[in-house]
Amino acid sequence: MTLRIAVAGGTGQAGSEAVRVARERGHDVVVLARSAGVDLVTGRGARDALVGVDVVIDASGVSPGDDPTAFHQAVTRTLTETGKDAGIRHLVVLSIVGCDRAAGYPLYAGKVAQEQATQASGIPFTIARTTQFHEFATLIWRMGKRGPLHFAPRMRSQPVAVREVGEHLVHLAEGEPLQRAPEFAGPREESVLDMVRAYAKAAGGGPVLPVRMGGEFGRAQRDGSLLPGPHAKLGHQTYAEWISALG
Ligand SMILES: NC(=O)c1ccc[n+]([C@@H]2O[C@H](COP(=O)([O-])OP(=O)(O)OC[C@H]3O[C@@H](n4cnc5c(N)ncnc54)[C@H](OP(=O)(O)O)[C@@H]3O)[C@@H](O)[C@H]2O)c1
Repeated sequence: MTLRIAVAGGTGQAGSEAVRVARERGHDVVVLARSAGVDLVTGRGARDALVGVDVVIDASGVSPGDDPTAFHQAVTRTLTETGKDAGIRHLVVLSIVGCDRAAGYPLYAGKVAQEQATQASGIPFTIARTTQFHEFATLIWRMGKRGPLHFAPRMRSQPVAVREVGEHLVHLAEGEPLQRAPEFAGPREESVLDMVRAYAKAAGGGPVLPVRMGGEFGRAQRDGSLLPGPHAKLGHQTYAEWISALG
């Protein structure tokens, strides 16, 4: 059945993949992003954009300077209040595996707040938690630069291809609301330090040194709290395959 699917954050890493997959599968797709004329924090443009929409995929994410909790609460309020008036049947929310196990970390507090606001909204929903995308290594590479050196945490992750996250989100949007979808992760566990080192090598960069992160988030990175559980659905592309495809 052809659906009208709105993708919040449809220009971002995961959202643009969901848009691509949904269009390939013949759905009618609406992009909700500031660059497409819709601000989901203020609500500007949302009412017109949601007319006739059956399902919303929320793959929005913060910009530098945003408070993650305030951001996700405002976006969820816009999507659910405006969405109710528009008659949407299903809200699929992209979240993060283990976010509730390190909710002292502001970004994860924002994801927990987003999940809670979704659950309280009264709109049938599916929360889709995934692990870090392979591109996470490039983020750490950029953020961990101090002068000529790069640092990366000793973190356990089971990274997933963002292309497959897009397929997963559209598959969920086509189905009935599940409240909680099985976690979605890549095919195997990796060391984030080794991932960043492999990226640095591929990008012609220098050495990457380990850094020990403090606090609850540092502990969660090291102790496996951010890994998927035994019932997770696994994608196919490995991190090594992703690196090879960078060319
Ligand atoms: N990156 C990961 O490894 C990972 C893993 C699992 C889950 N997640 C979660 O998945 C979500 C998407 O992550 P991502 O890395 O794909 O994000 P991203 O690339 O940073 O994209 C963020 C998207 O949100 C939109 N956006 C930001 N502010 C907006 C606003 N006020 N109104 C409307 N749209 C707005 C942006 O478009 P405009 O700038 O044009 O508005 C963009 O399309 C995030 O919530 C993240 O926590 C990420």
